Amino acid sequence: MTSPTPEKITVNGDRLWQSLMDLAEIGAYDDERTGLRGVNRLALTDADAAGRRQVITWMEQACLTVRIDRMGNIYGRREGTDPHATPVLTGSHIDSVATAGAFDGCLGVLGGIEVIRTLDERGITTRRPIEVGVFTEEEGVRFGTDMLGSAVAAGRLTLDYAHALTDRDGLTLGDELARTGSNGPTDVRLTPPHAYVECHIEQGPVLAEHNVEIGVVTGVQGISWQEITIHGRAAHAGTTPTHLRADAGLAAAQIIVHLRAMVDSGEYEGLRATVGHLIVHPDLTNIVPARAELTVDLRNPDDAQMARAERALAALLEDLEGSQPGLSLTTRRMAKTAYVPFDTGVQKVIAQAADDHALDHISLLSVAGHDAQEIAALCPTAMIFVRGEYDGISHNPREYSTPQACTHGVDVLATTCLRLANQD
Ligand code: GLV
Ligand code: MN
Ligand code: MN
Repeated sequence: MTSPTPEKITVNGDRLWQSLMDLAEIGAYDDERTGLRGVNRLALTDADAAGRRQVITWMEQACLTVRIDRMGNIYGRREGTDPHATPVLTGSHIDSVATAGAFDGCLGVLGGIEVIRTLDERGITTRRPIEVGVFTEEEGVRFGTDMLGSAVAAGRLTLDYAHALTDRDGLTLGDELARTGSNGPTDVRLTPPHAYVECHIEQGPVLAEHNVEIGVVTGVQGISWQEITIHGRAAHAGTTPTHLRADAGLAAAQIIVHLRAMVDSGEYEGLRATVGHLIVHPDLTNIVPARAELTVDLRNPDDAQMARAERALAALLEDLEGSQPGLSLTTRRMAKTAYVPFDTGVQKVIAQAADDHALDHISLLSVAGHDAQEIAALCPTAMIFVRGEYDGISHNPREYSTPQACTHGVDVLATTCLRLANQD
């Protein structure tokens, strides 16, 4: 017996929360800076592999048919009543940065599984299949390119490119997929689904500032990642006159300060700039740094402003080469994505679902990157944002969304999936 399709569905918030907390135990560590438990599940480490196995177990317990592709992307499928209909896809990622909380990405994956559990226990069938996707290396912090699994699934990047990427120890993604048993046999190119919807924590302060529960995401701003290597000359700290130095550390500092001045100038409207990785060699007190390696992360909602900012950075690097005798710089592109607008039709379904659950909502742009921006190339796509505490801090163990906020977001996800999965 199947029940008639209800107008909206509410999920089991306690069960969702328990899954979030259980997954957060995998890769958990004691964070000395905050005194909190954090999560470290860098992509394709043993901890990530354990997390992936747990998620697959939950998918199988929810009677999903699991397939894994050659990028390690996992899909759990619940059939619909129409064998010819394309699926509604939901999901996100469970890999994390090294100093993460319990929610980034995990809410979308475990929320998707909770939607399936709820449909099953309520005996609700849908016309279209529903699939829950788990994308590999969304964070990009281990192998250097973000949204990697979804970008390959969507065809923007090739499988060969992804498999050849290396981490800081020189291990390739392809070998790490194999070592951790995370690779699968299915074709990585995703057949365009009917629609994609991803529930994610906001990771910022906007929803709290507006005192609303739900964000209907209109798109994702552009992201530019580059690695810069500065080649100077090792020399004695005491004996080397300043005019004879090629100090790679000094040039690295000049890049950081210049980027901040570009942001503060307001000339690149919406620009955010971060140097999150910086090391100098040989990294010793009494030696002028011979080499510096740093990464630059630029964000901008406007592609033209992003292009101007990238040109200004390139000009700075050129100037720096002439600023010290024998100093040279090389750059390597790590990742680059343009502004991606989301589908207005899917946004409407999300906004209507939030209204029907009596949840206040606003529309907002995502200033973080997400798998949804890649899948948007394949099918109508949008996202649901859930409000965070403490100014929405994220990529930090303090990251926190209340059980109620998570439940509300996944209620909206459930009703949105249900309605999309019953569309013609
Ligand atoms: C994803 O976490 C990002 O860096 O925006
Ligand atoms: Mn994320
Ligand atoms: Mn993240």
